[in-house]
Amino acid sequence: MNIKNNIIKSQLSKDGIALIRNEETTYEQFISLIENNSSHICIDPARKGMAPGLVSSGTEEIGLHLENGTFCNVPHLCWFFCEKAPEKGSRTTFCDGVKIWSHLSKKTKKIFISKKIKFERIFSIGQWRNILSNYDPSFCMEKSTQDDIIRFGNKFEGQIFKKHTHGSVISEFTTSAVLKSNFSQNFSFANSLFTPSYNYAPPVITFENGEVIDPSILKEIEHLTKKFTVSHDWKDGDILVLDNHRIMHGREKIISKNRKIYNIMSFI
Ligand SMILES: [Fe+2]
Repeated sequence: MNIKNNIIKSQLSKDGIALIRNEETTYEQFISLIENNSSHICIDPARKGMAPGLVSSGTEEIGLHLENGTFCNVPHLCWFFCEKAPEKGSRTTFCDGVKIWSHLSKKTKKIFISKKIKFERIFSIGQWRNILSNYDPSFCMEKSTQDDIIRFGNKFEGQIFKKHTHGSVISEFTTSAVLKSNFSQNFSFANSLFTPSYNYAPPVITFENGEVIDPSILKEIEHLTKKFTVSHDWKDGDILVLDNHRIMHGREKIISKNRKIYNIMSFI
């Protein structure tokens, strides 16, 4: 596989998505392509212990989100590799946040420019230790303390961890719902307001000050994202690269059991 890095970058700048279609592609080539285009790779800590990056989030439909968009640090790129395409349906969905931003009402834009959003959720002791050791293997899974995760969270803009009962912690991640990516000059309505919660407790999502997001605003966003969401029909060997600060992704209900897709995140 001979893919020039500048081809990926120019596709990401134009559309926020790059598709590399070659049925001969192997998992090893996928990983080396990521390594050649990234400063470092990260894998969802909840997927540790399986083939690195193998998607396993149940079979239900998954709402639009940024990969790892609700705590610590949102990776720049989200990579998918399809080792085995589903026979039917079970497609991955995408929505370009630049299009959403350009179609939102002036009133809603004004709100999201002036107010950040906050994701608040509880991580059990096992979950936050897993997250911590995944980010930094020098932390021991069995021995790290609540103070360790609190200090670790302080390294990231907008992230706070607070001690909670039975060794758990409360995570508060504050971020703008409107991002500017490294590949585009345009504002993008890119966030995880409709985030799935398969591996963790569902987050409470509010504005930064705890104010509830008006249901009519969420309705407007839902209407627009439905209008601009497209579905990707996988073929064996497909690699899809998403600008994770611009393109939100999700998934249709899985109706084909043989689907084998890997998902890895990276920073440029
Ligand atoms: Fe995802």
